[in-house]
Parts: sequence; C-alpha cells; structure tokens
Amino acid sequence: MDWSDFYADQAGRAVRPTFAAALVRWRDARGPATGQAIDLGCGDGVESRALVAAGWRVLAIDADARVVERVTDGVPDADRARLTVRRASFEELASFDGEALPATDLVYAGFSLPFCSGDVFEMLWARIRQCLLPGGLFAGQLFGPHDDFAAWPDVNTHDRADVERLLHGLTVLQLDEEDRDGRSFAGPKHWHVFHIIASA
Ligand SMILES: C[S@@+](CC[C@H](N)C(=O)[O-])C[C@H]1O[C@@H](n2cnc3c(N)ncnc32)[C@H](O)[C@@H]1O
Repeated sequence: MDWSDFYADQAGRAVRPTFAAALVRWRDARGPATGQAIDLGCGDGVESRALVAAGWRVLAIDADARVVERVTDGVPDADRARLTVRRASFEELASFDGEALPATDLVYAGFSLPFCSGDVFEMLWARIRQCLLPGGLFAGQLFGPHDDFAAWPDVNTHDRADVERLLHGLTVLQLDEEDRDGRSFAGPKHWHVFHIIASA
C-alpha cells in the first residue's frame, strides 16, 4: 500500500501519546539511562528521531520505499551512527531465517502491527517477545474488530481476549481500549484501538 497520503496528512506531528507514556515508564524505572530501541513500522520516523535525540540507539524498520530518506532527514551527523534504518516488511521479518530483531530495550510499534498480514502476525509477535531484554518495554497499538480498517486487505484485528493472550507473561503497564467515531487521513473512521505498554 502507498502511505504517501498518510505521511502528508501527518506532517509536523508530535510524538504519539503512547510513545511518550512509554518513555515516562522507562525513565521511572531506569532514570536517564538509554539503550537499544526498535521502531517497527516507523513511518515518517518522528519517534525514531526523538529516541536518537534522547541518546538511544535505534533500529527503524518500515516497508515503505522511501523510509531511509524519510527517517534520516534532519538527523545531525553526530547522532547518525546511533540510527539504523532498514527497509523490510513485517512478513520478511517474520520469516527471516535468523535473528530478525536484535536484543532490545524498547520495541515501539505505533499503529503499524495491524497492517501485518494475519498469516504471519503470530510469528512476528513471537519475534518481538523474544527480542525484548528483561525489563524491556513493548509499546504500540493493535486494532480491535470494530475498527473500520478491518475491512482493508491484510489488516489484522484482535479482540480484548486476543490482546490479553498476546500479553500473557508480560507486565501490562497500560492497556487502553478506544472504540469511537473519529477521523483518519482517509476521512471519517470508526476507531477500535488497544493502546499498549507492557514490560518483559
Ligand atoms: C499508520 S502508519 C504508522 C507510522 C508511524 N508509526 C506513525 O505512528 O505515524 C503504518 C506504517 O506501517 C508501515 N507498514 C504497513 N504495512 C507494513 C508491513 N507489512 N511491513 C512493514 N511496514 C508496514 C507503513 O509503511 C507505514 O509507515
């Protein structure tokens, strides 16, 4: 899918609230320490750049053809060595023969995992769980079955029981369910979203 309209609609946006809340959780637990982060489905890279600016090492991943230029744009040379941008699909990561995701302190997947093919979602989720270091955080969103985007091809949804199963064994720090009419870059939309922060 071409996400150009989405990126254009979101130009100049701030970091997303669930991301900001995850960093607060991290600082509450670890103070000023930084570590390795993965931004899965990083899109325009706002969160990746915020992490790099805060001192993190970041692996930003997205299937979009222009992801490297999009994410690296504006990153100071001095910080560039801590940012790796990889163009890859979730489906490639799930089926990669080897370590698809390095050991990490933070996996952030902002409004991206629902666009992973349902056939490989469980494998990708297993890889996300495996790469989290002890105390590492997962933050991101999953879509519920009432979400209008559920009708799009290759969009996966999870009901609350599914989400709780996926999070079993993690410490759930935030699980907010949103089920409301609103808007998206594509026009009026019903949102059904789980905003998640969990710790390994
Ligand atoms: C709704 S955007 C979210 C982007 C960003 N995280 C944000 O919060 O603005 C979804 C992103 O996921 C990426 N994406 C969608 N399907 C993907 C897939 N199968 N593999 C990898 N990336 C994918 C898109 O290219 C897009 O950048």
